[in-house]
Amino acid sequence: MADPRPIIFSGIQPTGRKHLGNFIGAIRQYVEGQDRGDPALYCVVDLHSISVPYDPADLRERVLDTAAILLAAGLDPERCIFFRQSDVREHTELTWLLSAVTSHGDLDRMTQFKEKVGKARELASAALFYYPVLMAADVLAYRATEVPVGDDQRQHVELMREIARRFNARFGETLVVPELVVPEVGARIMDLQEPETKMSTTGGTEQGTVLVLDDEKAIRKKVGSAVTDSGHEVRAAADKPGVTNLIDILAVARGTGRAEVEADFDGVGYGDFKRAVADGVVELLGPVRERYEELRPDEAALEATLAAGAEKARAIAALTIAEVRARMGFGC
Ligand code: TRP
Repeated sequence: MADPRPIIFSGIQPTGRKHLGNFIGAIRQYVEGQDRGDPALYCVVDLHSISVPYDPADLRERVLDTAAILLAAGLDPERCIFFRQSDVREHTELTWLLSAVTSHGDLDRMTQFKEKVGKARELASAALFYYPVLMAADVLAYRATEVPVGDDQRQHVELMREIARRFNARFGETLVVPELVVPEVGARIMDLQEPETKMSTTGGTEQGTVLVLDDEKAIRKKVGSAVTDSGHEVRAAADKPGVTNLIDILAVARGTGRAEVEADFDGVGYGDFKRAVADGVVELLGPVRERYEELRPDEAALEATLAAGAEKARAIAALTIAEVRARMGFGC
C-alpha cells in the first residue's frame, strides 16, 4: 500500500523582508508541499512575534506583506490551508494545555532562547521563554506528520515531539509525533558578503542579503558585488565559500545541480559567472515581486483569504482540542 499522504504544517514569521535564503529554503518547499500534503497548512505566526518588542500597527502590515509574498510565490488557498495564527484561538488554548507536559528544564535548554536573550535574561518576556510551547501547539493541533523548517528549528521540533510523546504517555494516545523535514537544496544560502554566515535579515549584511522584493537593479548590484576569492575557477569547494554559494544559488534558479553549473562555467571568469547568477536570481524573483505588487494593495482580499484559511484550520484544530480537553479531564 502506498504511504498515506502527509499532513504538513509550517509557520513563517511575519516580515516583508523575506530573503533569497527564505525563498529557496522555505517558501519554495511550501509551494511544493501543497500538492503532497493532505492537507498542507501554512501559518503566519503573529502570536510568536509578540515575544519581542513590537508595534501593533506594524504587526498587522507585516502579516499582510508576508501573506502577499507567499501567495505571490505560488501558495494557492485552494490547494493548502493558509492562515494567520492569531485567528485560530485553539493555538493559544492548546499552548496552555501542553504546558502541563513541558518542563521548565526543557525550555531552559533551548539554545535559540539563550542566544536571543544573551545576558539580558531577566528582561526577556515570558512569551519568549514559552515560544517553543506555542510552536508545539501549532503543529500538534493538526496532528501534522511533517514539519518543514530550517535547521535552526531542529531543537524546537525535537521538543514538540517529546511533548507529544509525553502527552500520549500521560493521558493516552491522542497526539501525533511529527517528523522534522529540513530541505536539502538551498537550506544554507549564505550571505553574499560574508559567505561563512547564513543569509539573514537580522544577522547578515545588508549588501549580502537579496530580498525577495528587491528590484532588478538591487539584485544585480548585490550579486555583482558578491565576495568570491583570489582564484578564477567556478568550482564548489570548502575553501571557496563565496563561489560555492553562488553556484548553489544558480543551480537552484536553473533547477540543476552543482556539477552542471560547474561544467557550464568551466573556464568562464567570475565577472561573467556573476552576471549569469544575477540573471538567474532576477528570473526567479522577478515574477514574485510583480505578483506581490498586484496582490499587496488589496488588503480586503488578503484578509478574506486569511479568514477563509482560518476557518478551515479551526475546523481541524477544534477536533484535536476537544479530544485533548476530554483526556485531560475538562468539560466539553
Ligand atoms: N519558529 C519558527 C521559525 O522561526 C516559526 C514557527 C512557528 C514554526 N510555529 C511553527 C515553524 C510551527 C514550523 C512549525 O522559523
